[in-house]
Amino acid sequence: MPEREKDKSRAKGKTTVEERAKPLIVAESLYKSFGDNHVLRGMDLTINEGEVLVIIGRSGCGKSVFLKHVIRILRPERGRMLFDGVDINQLNVRELTELRKNFGMLFQGSALFDSLSVRENVGFYFYESTKIPIGEIDEIVKEKLAMVGLSGVEDIFPAELSGGMKKRVGLARAIATEPRVIMYDEPTTGLDPIMADVINEMIIDLQEKLNITSIVVTHDMVSAYKIATRIAMLYEGKIIEVGTPQEIKNSQNPYVQQFVTGSYKGPIDVLEG
Ligand SMILES: Nc1ncnc2c1ncn2[C@@H]1O[C@H](COP(=O)(O)OP(=O)(O)OP(=O)(O)O)[C@@H](O)[C@H]1O
Ligand SMILES: [Mg+2]
Repeated sequence: MPEREKDKSRAKGKTTVEERAKPLIVAESLYKSFGDNHVLRGMDLTINEGEVLVIIGRSGCGKSVFLKHVIRILRPERGRMLFDGVDINQLNVRELTELRKNFGMLFQGSALFDSLSVRENVGFYFYESTKIPIGEIDEIVKEKLAMVGLSGVEDIFPAELSGGMKKRVGLARAIATEPRVIMYDEPTTGLDPIMADVINEMIIDLQEKLNITSIVVTHDMVSAYKIATRIAMLYEGKIIEVGTPQEIKNSQNPYVQQFVTGSYKGPIDVLEG
C-alpha cells in the first residue's frame, strides 16, 4: 500500500492489511516431485489469519498439490509447512488429527460420498468421530445447510443434485465443524455466473462474520478479484508474485499479466503443461 494511503487509513484509526497481518500458515521453500515431474520447486507462501488468500496458476502447476501439503495429505521432500508456528510434518498421528480439526476443505469437484445422503455427507465427521446424539447432528446439518442457502435436501443423494447444489453441500460439510481455516479448490468452476457469485458472497461472509482464514484456488479471475485479500500466482513451482487484487491487476510481471488477462500471447509457453 502506498505511504499516502497508509497515512489516510491511520488517520481514520484503521490498521492496514500489513499491520494486522499475523502469519497462520507458512510454506517455506517446499519441494515436491512425482518421479521426474518436479511440481513444487522452492515454494514460499504466507497466509495470514483472517485473510482470503487466492492462489492462481495454470492447470497442472501444483495448486491442489499445495493444498494437500497444508494438511499433510502430501509431504514435501524438502522445506517446511508451518501452522501457527508448528512444523506440521513433525507431528505425531494424534497431533495431526488435532491439527486437521482446524481445517475445512471444499474439494475440487465437491467430492461428496455418492452412497451417502446429503445429511450423512454434511454430518459425516459427527457420525464417524463423535458421540453426539443423532438429533443434535440433525440440527447441526440443518443449520449448516441453511447457511449455504439450502433446506429440505437432507434426504437427497448427490447424484440428484445440480453442480451448484453439490458445491454448496460440500461447503456445508466444510463448515460443519466450524474450522479456523477453509480451503476451497476451484469453488466456482463449472457454475453459472450467478451461482458463482453466490459462492463468492459465502466465502466473503464466512471471512467477515466468523473471521475464517480462507485459501482459495481458482482460475476464475472475476471471483479472485472480488474475494481476495491477496492473490498469489504459482508458476513453475514457485510463487512469482503476491499482492492485493489491485496490485496483481497492475503487475508489471509479464507472466502475471498474461495469466490474469487470459491471453495466449506472452512469455508463458501455452502448449507446455
Ligand atoms: N498423487 C499424485 N501422483 C502423481 N502425480 C501427481 C499426484 N498429484 C498431482 N500430481 C501431478 O502434479 C502436477 C500438479 O497437479 P495439481 O493437481 O496440483 O494441479 P493443479 O494446479 O491443481 O491443476 P488444475 O488447475 O487442473 O486443478 C500434475 O502434473 C499432476 O499430474
Ligand atoms: Mg487442482
